[in-house]
Amino acid sequence: MCRHTRLFERETRVPATVLVGTQWGDEGKGKFTDLVAKEMSMVVRYQGGHNAGHTIVVDGESFGLQLVPSGCLYDHITTVLGNGVVVDPKVLIAEMDMLESKGFDMSHLKLSGNAHLILPYHQELDMLTERRLGRNKLGTTKRGIGPAYADKSTRVGLRVQDLLDPKIFREKLDQVLKEKNSVLAKVFNRLPADADAIAHDYLEVYRPRLEPHIADTVGLVHEALESGQHVLFEGAQATFLDLDHGTYPFVTSSNPVAGGACIGAGIGPRHIDRVIGVGKAYVTRVGSGPFPTELFGDLGDTIVEKGREYGVNTKRRRRPGWFDAVMMRHAVRLNSLSELAITKLDILGGLGPLQVCVAYDHQGERLEQMPYHQSVLHKCTPIYEELPGWDDDISGSTERSQLPSATRDYLDFLEAQVGVPIRLVGVGPGREQFIHYAA
Ligand code: GDP
Ligand code: IMO
Ligand code: MG
Repeated sequence: MCRHTRLFERETRVPATVLVGTQWGDEGKGKFTDLVAKEMSMVVRYQGGHNAGHTIVVDGESFGLQLVPSGCLYDHITTVLGNGVVVDPKVLIAEMDMLESKGFDMSHLKLSGNAHLILPYHQELDMLTERRLGRNKLGTTKRGIGPAYADKSTRVGLRVQDLLDPKIFREKLDQVLKEKNSVLAKVFNRLPADADAIAHDYLEVYRPRLEPHIADTVGLVHEALESGQHVLFEGAQATFLDLDHGTYPFVTSSNPVAGGACIGAGIGPRHIDRVIGVGKAYVTRVGSGPFPTELFGDLGDTIVEKGREYGVNTKRRRRPGWFDAVMMRHAVRLNSLSELAITKLDILGGLGPLQVCVAYDHQGERLEQMPYHQSVLHKCTPIYEELPGWDDDISGSTERSQLPSATRDYLDFLEAQVGVPIRLVGVGPGREQFIHYAA
């Protein structure tokens, strides 16, 4: 036998899918996770926390999920909160209670012991830091996300597995509170956090409820993959809120990009074969930060009202803007997108001619790709191409052929600009309101 024949033989395996936001969040990831999840056995959240708000609308009933993965409405799916997630136990329990009260089985939910806990002082410090920044605030969700990830990085975080060892939990808490209470008192003039009260809530109230769900999620994900099951990794936030690749510092504190699934769930990149990028047919952003195609005035207001562009949890008004193909091309690179799911196409109907940003102008220079230097991005103005709009209501369309030709032209233009096939299109919030656009 030739000595090289077996060296690079590949094992047979079912590849995993990642679903990721391609803009600044709220693209409709929840809806499309729910849709794609139907064919999956496991749905894994790999980063973020309850800063996320993912909406699924089934038979007119709306579910706004913060932590529980968006596959939870199917009985056959194991839902997983991976090691990369930060968990506020109180919020998680409330969400599980809500879902159980509506008849959904939460026994399939697994929580990584390596996930970090959000503690009350994280939320307080998030709020206080934002207040101190004044007009320079980031516009965070004030959920304690940044402070919790900061503690993870400086290695003073408490993890879900610490709930299972009360002695260790208390030791770590007492240690970290020395520093936190000093900051709360000396920097912010606030009362200290009460270790006894925190220990009571986390160990006596939250632990008994969460213990049955705490598991070796890395093991579970690999067992699923090895036995040929389909696994979907559900991103929260989005590409341009990514700590490394987003519009820093106006970003979240985790890595929503597809590569984050490897870190936040414990898999290697070879498992990922399909990366679905979810993007709105326009763009929104909530919180501060640059936004080249932002729309002000009546047209922006119309999109916000028609698209109900208000935060799922924080209820904040989202800033609207035209579709930005420069951003999307960058999102293709950062995530290795294999396909796009375009949402909220129905909202563009009746708006008149539509603009798509095809490049940026920076002091007379045409940029086809996103500039790496933030100061340059701040000075970029969009170069638009105008496309005809449509007046028809497309919210009942189920086939590509039912769409007006101007609507198809719009999608085909986006596809050509971005260079990745559009496979799914959302035409309304409901579970059934979508079109298989390309095979
Ligand atoms: P996520 O954070 O990416 O899951 O998105 P959100 O749930 O925060 O925001 C998306 C909003 O758009 C939700 O209210 C969805 O119900 C809604 N939505 C999703 N897809 C569509 C669509 O194709 N058309 C319309 N009109 N609404 C949609
Ligand atoms: P989903 O998963 C939209 C934004 C906040 C703020 C910045 C930092 O629903 O798309 P953080 O609280 O994370 O420290 O805030 O990130 N942000 C989101 N914007 N959708 C989200 O989640 C977001 N999660 C965080 O508004 O600008
Ligand atoms: Mg959202």
